[in-house]
Amino acid sequence: MSMAVQCKGVWKTFGSGAAAVTALQDIDLAVEDGEFVTLVGASGCGKSTLLRTIAGIESHNAGEILVGGVPVNGPGVDRAMVFQNYSLYPWLTVKGERTSADVEVASGRADALLSVMGLTGVADAYPNQLSGGMQQRVAIARALMSRPRILLMDEPFGALDAQTREVMHDLILHVSRLEHCTVIFVTHDVEEAIYLGQRVVLMAPRPGRVDTVYAVPLAPERSQEMKLHSAFLGLKTAILERIRATSGMKTDLELLQRLSRTSAPGKS
Ligand SMILES: Nc1ncnc2c1ncn2[C@@H]1O[C@H](COP(=O)(O)OP(=O)(O)O)[C@@H](O)[C@H]1O
Ligand SMILES: [Mg+2]
Repeated sequence: MSMAVQCKGVWKTFGSGAAAVTALQDIDLAVEDGEFVTLVGASGCGKSTLLRTIAGIESHNAGEILVGGVPVNGPGVDRAMVFQNYSLYPWLTVKGERTSADVEVASGRADALLSVMGLTGVADAYPNQLSGGMQQRVAIARALMSRPRILLMDEPFGALDAQTREVMHDLILHVSRLEHCTVIFVTHDVEEAIYLGQRVVLMAPRPGRVDTVYAVPLAPERSQEMKLHSAFLGLKTAILERIRATSGMKTDLELLQRLSRTSAPGKS
């Protein structure tokens, strides 16, 4: 198996002096070709920063990021990104979105992608006529248009309702396999991370770091009822406990309780 992405001792700091924030501390992570890896962790643990440095839209301070063995120095067509907020052009229809890659249109790839993504029936619709789920399908189809080797997704389904998300989960698993795409998928939803990932990378905050990498003990072909399997539930419990232990959520809670005790209006 060759490596799609290798992060070797990657550091990223924002700001300087007392205000400096270590968003990434000494990140080592290797993702195999065709692998689906999910990054999970509390808010502020550096998930988006890691994804953005791999995308090459954020620089890193130290260490090395290799994509297909080549150092990342900026964005490239081998990597495509999908964000939570659908970034579609309001004046383009679904069909219009595809014409941005003329050569690919000629090959019929755009139509094939629209079909695979279930968008053929809405090809003449404008973004404001589409549901959130449909808009994200367009964003994914557009990202895949140039045949990226790696798809980088930052909480892409975070704004969707639970039912639509389940549909999108099965769709992205299907499409990524069909396209032989490597996927790095950021979420703060542990269930989503386990359902989609072959491995779940748990990050922890302050400083942002890789805490634990879990191999998901489920068959690669996922189905919704697997969420009830004991292996799934056991991993979910373990990850949630680890997030609580590393994120400082408990200390925040204790601090709140202390504050509310001291500031409670005295009725004595
Ligand atoms: N452009 C920036 N400038 C300053 N600090 C930033 C910037 N981007 C992220 N950070 C800080 O880096 C840390 C990690 O942020 P981020 O990668 O967005 O975390 P996550 O996506 O896991 O919520 C946070 O403390 C955040 O405040
Ligand atoms: Mg983020």
